[in-house]
Amino acid sequence: MKYEIALLRGDGIGPEIVDSAVRVLKAIAVKFGHEFIFTPYLIGGAAIDEVGVPLPDATVEGCLRSDSVLLGAVGGPKWDTLPGNLRPEKALLGIRKALGLFTNLRPARLYPALKDSCPLRESVAANGFDIMIVRELTGGIYFGDRGYREGKYGEEAFDTECYSRFEIERIARVAFETAKKRRSKVTSIDKANVLETSRLWRKTVHELAAEYADVECSDMLVDNAAMQLVKNPAQFDVVLTSNMFGDILSDEASQITGSIGLLPSASLSDNTRGMYEPIHGSAPDIAGKGIANPIATILSAAMMLRYSFSLSAEADAIENAVSSVLNDGLRTADIAAKGDPFLTTAEMTDAITERI
Ligand code: IPM
Ligand code: MG
Repeated sequence: MKYEIALLRGDGIGPEIVDSAVRVLKAIAVKFGHEFIFTPYLIGGAAIDEVGVPLPDATVEGCLRSDSVLLGAVGGPKWDTLPGNLRPEKALLGIRKALGLFTNLRPARLYPALKDSCPLRESVAANGFDIMIVRELTGGIYFGDRGYREGKYGEEAFDTECYSRFEIERIARVAFETAKKRRSKVTSIDKANVLETSRLWRKTVHELAAEYADVECSDMLVDNAAMQLVKNPAQFDVVLTSNMFGDILSDEASQITGSIGLLPSASLSDNTRGMYEPIHGSAPDIAGKGIANPIATILSAAMMLRYSFSLSAEADAIENAVSSVLNDGLRTADIAAKGDPFLTTAEMTDAITERI
């Protein structure tokens, strides 16, 4: 089969890790007889430097023409002082919206080989965990009305959170359907003791839960969820969250896997064109040093094969290769024990590619 893949390398370590994932995809193409055609487009700070805006129209059009999109990361100190609508991060929100990517799947599981990198108490880590965070991605406070105005104490700024029943039901359905293919448990996160949007969220989720009698559904307040994630992560199967809560909880979930450098994500719409990216950022502090962990992006490419192209054997091949390097004790700097030798980005990519 032939697939067109748009590459949004972005900033910082973005180009390095996207190139790693491309090498792995090329190995998959050879082994399974596919053709992947890669076309790069500008995004983020790189786009600001080249053409003056973080998300050029050509990028949006290129992504819309492609079968799928692979993204590295955007942002960096160089562009931090630009006004909000010209920041690299704005491009990420813009492309998510333009492609209608309302679902963000962020799996967080503890690899048995990495139990020692897990910062949790040994007795907790021993239970392992395998969580799928289902984050709403095109609504909520990220996209609500915002601005500056004169208030009681002079200048003030505001952001607003708005969720429609439609948006909540749409993402909740994804969570229930996902749970059916896993351990049939959904924990819906909200702040219903304070926020009106959360009360509508909870009500809508309960109504939908009635349609899924075979899935166990419960609610959890977000502050408690932050605590439960480190206390007993094994209790979670599918975690259903709003945009902002999902952003925060997914970083927390990544850290207990040992490194944020391991976690992939899939952003999906109601068609098969998705966008796949590591959940970590552009890590400007290590950019260009060749030491970034490429695994999150490589696993994102595996998610692309699985979700956009329905190539599950090919996705399995990547995921098994990653498990195999970890089982063999190979480590990048972020997951190596203090003082132990570690592989560069390119060496880790070689090791994974060789196992495909
Ligand atoms: C993420 C990132 C983005 C987000 C930023 C860079 C806009 O933190 O994908 O988790 O908040 O969604
Ligand atoms: Mg984030």
